[in-house]
Amino acid sequence: MSTVWESDDFSPVDGERLVSADYTEDDLEIDRSLRPRRLDEYLGQTRVKDNLGVLIDAARVRDEALDHLLLSGPPGLGKTTLAGVVASELGVQMRQTSGPAIERAGDLAAILTNLEPRDVLFIDEIHRLNRAVEEVLYPAMEDYSIDIVIGKGPAARSLRLDLPQFTLIGATTRTGLLTGPLRDRFGMAFRLEYYTVDELASIVRRSAGILDVVIDEDGAAEIARRSRGTPRLANRLLKRVRDYSQVRSDGRVTEDLAAEALAFFHVDHRGLDRMDLAILEALAQTFSGRPVGLNTLAAAVSEEPDTLEDVYEPFLLQLGFIARTPKGRQATPRAYEHLGIAVPESAPRQGGLF
Ligand SMILES: Nc1ncnc2c1ncn2[C@@H]1O[C@H](COP(=O)(O)OP(=O)(O)OP(=O)(O)O)[C@@H](O)[C@H]1O
Ligand SMILES: [Mg+2]
Repeated sequence: MSTVWESDDFSPVDGERLVSADYTEDDLEIDRSLRPRRLDEYLGQTRVKDNLGVLIDAARVRDEALDHLLLSGPPGLGKTTLAGVVASELGVQMRQTSGPAIERAGDLAAILTNLEPRDVLFIDEIHRLNRAVEEVLYPAMEDYSIDIVIGKGPAARSLRLDLPQFTLIGATTRTGLLTGPLRDRFGMAFRLEYYTVDELASIVRRSAGILDVVIDEDGAAEIARRSRGTPRLANRLLKRVRDYSQVRSDGRVTEDLAAEALAFFHVDHRGLDRMDLAILEALAQTFSGRPVGLNTLAAAVSEEPDTLEDVYEPFLLQLGFIARTPKGRQATPRAYEHLGIAVPESAPRQGGLF
């Protein structure tokens, strides 16, 4: 359901993180309607797509399962989408689950034994699989078989079960958290990169077409510039701009309208929201430019350290607004410029930052 505002006195929901990469209920619905199904609808990530295209063709010609595939990258860049695209290009089903959802080895065994030949098994947040479950996955990935133990005590015996050939697609926001043995069992690993403004503008135009939003080139580009390299945000911002335009204007999205709407929702011209700015201000002002440890910074902005590290930090690093020094996170000269404040005297000059 799209948001409906009855009068023009609407305002952003308090504390709402429009640009946060967290997954919301609203996204579920947006995703369902806008998620590309085929490789040629999946825009950007050309290197990954070119490679995958060849491998998918080869697997299809040989009538074999595609090699296991690991997809990594920040939230909202299209890992789940790409897994679905791979399955539909292969003409097979995708079974979807996630690391935390598979609690016991038996749960995974049940999923694996129900796969059809060449199916894709998608495991999201694969770095969160527990040890016992992970160990079932090793022989499954390597030899398409699992060992199950029947009975207890001295009578227990182990039975080897053959599985159909399948493709495991694992997704993770943090490759660093994957165990070595698991990582080694993937035949291919791709890291999704932040999208360029042009790529995001194409995504916005495609989505606008599906949602019946009238938008011009400059309007799409303005949304793209504020989407922090992330398709999920581009779609979310498009939807908000459309809502704003319907209430405050004639429903058409131009550059000025998009800029006005996004400023209204506290998304600045580089795509930073209030949390990003709070982080930069904490580093630059509260801590006077000194390096700050992750937990201290998280406490200062009342956010979970993991969220800070997974969601906010990657983009601020990418923009060159913060740096990770051996002593902690530090605001860079660009951050001060963005905030429009002077570099404090106490900011350490060593380390090549200033
Ligand atoms: N390459 C793309 N082209 C067009 N739209 C895309 C592309 N990648 C992602 N999207 C859009 O962005 C949305 C978010 O992508 P997706 O859910 O696949 O991200 P994700 O990487 O799996 O995120 P998370 O880490 O939170 O699971 C999709 O529903 C889709 O509409
Ligand atoms: Mg996903």
